[in-house]
Amino acid sequence: MYGHPEFDLFEAIYTTRAMRRLKPDPVPQEIIMKIIEAATMAPSNSNRQPWIFLLVSSPENRQFIAERYKEAWEKYYFTAEKKLFLENHPATPEAKNLRSAIYLANHIGEAPLLIFACVKRYSDPTRAGQPMVGSIYPAIQNLCLAARAYGLGTAITSLHKHFVNEINQRLGVPPEYANEILIPLGYPRGRWGRPARKPATDVTFVERWGARPHPRSHDG
Ligand SMILES: Cc1cc2nc3c(=O)[nH]c(=O)nc-3n(C[C@H](O)[C@H](O)[C@H](O)COP(=O)(O)O)c2cc1C
Repeated sequence: MYGHPEFDLFEAIYTTRAMRRLKPDPVPQEIIMKIIEAATMAPSNSNRQPWIFLLVSSPENRQFIAERYKEAWEKYYFTAEKKLFLENHPATPEAKNLRSAIYLANHIGEAPLLIFACVKRYSDPTRAGQPMVGSIYPAIQNLCLAARAYGLGTAITSLHKHFVNEINQRLGVPPEYANEILIPLGYPRGRWGRPARKPATDVTFVERWGARPHPRSHDG
C-alpha cells in the first residue's frame, strides 16, 4: 500500500530495537525519502509539523560528527562506574546494551546516513526557546518503524548534544530549531529481535494508581 513494502505492523513494533551495528552500504535516496515521508505522517501539537530531518551522508560531515559523538561517549557517558559494571556483570542484558553502545560510539561514522531530527522552538512568551519535543518523538518512532519495514536499522541517540553548537554551526542549523536526536541509519549487521522489556502488566495500573491488572483479565 502507498508504494511501500508489505510489513506487519506488530512485527515491526516488536523487532525495532536499537540497531547499532550497521553496514556501510548506501541506502537508495528513494527509500530514504519514503521513510522521511512516513515520519511526517506523525501527529504534532496543533499539526504544526515543526520538524526538519537533516540528512548527512558526506564522508567529511560524518567524520566530523563521529569524532564528537565518540568524545561525548568517552567523556560524559562511559563513566568509570559503567566500565566497572561491564567488567563485573558481563552476561547481563545491561552489559549487552553497553557493548552495543560502545560499538556505535566507535563506528557511528560508518553508517551511510546520519539523520538529525530537528524541532522548532516555541516563540510565545510563556515558553519561548523551549523545543516542541513532544512533537518530534512520534515522528522519530514512525521513522524507525518505516526503516524497519525496508529492512533498515536505526538507533535513537542524543550524545551529539554535548557538541551541538559545533555541529549546528557546521550544518547550518538555525537557533530557532533544536537538534534533538541523531539517528544513524543503514542495513543491519546485527540481527532483528524482540527487545528486552518489562511485562506490560508491570507498568499498568487499573482505575487507581498502584492497582495491578488481573494477569488474565484481557484474555479472549
Ligand atoms: C531519547 C533517547 C536518547 C537515546 N540516546 C542514545 C545515545 O546517545 N546512544 C545510544 O547508543 N543509544 C541511545 N538511545 C537508545 C537507548 O539506549 C535504547 O533505546 C534502549 O537501550 C533500548 O534498546 P533496545 O531497543 O535495543 O532494547 C536513546 C534512546 C532514546 C529514546
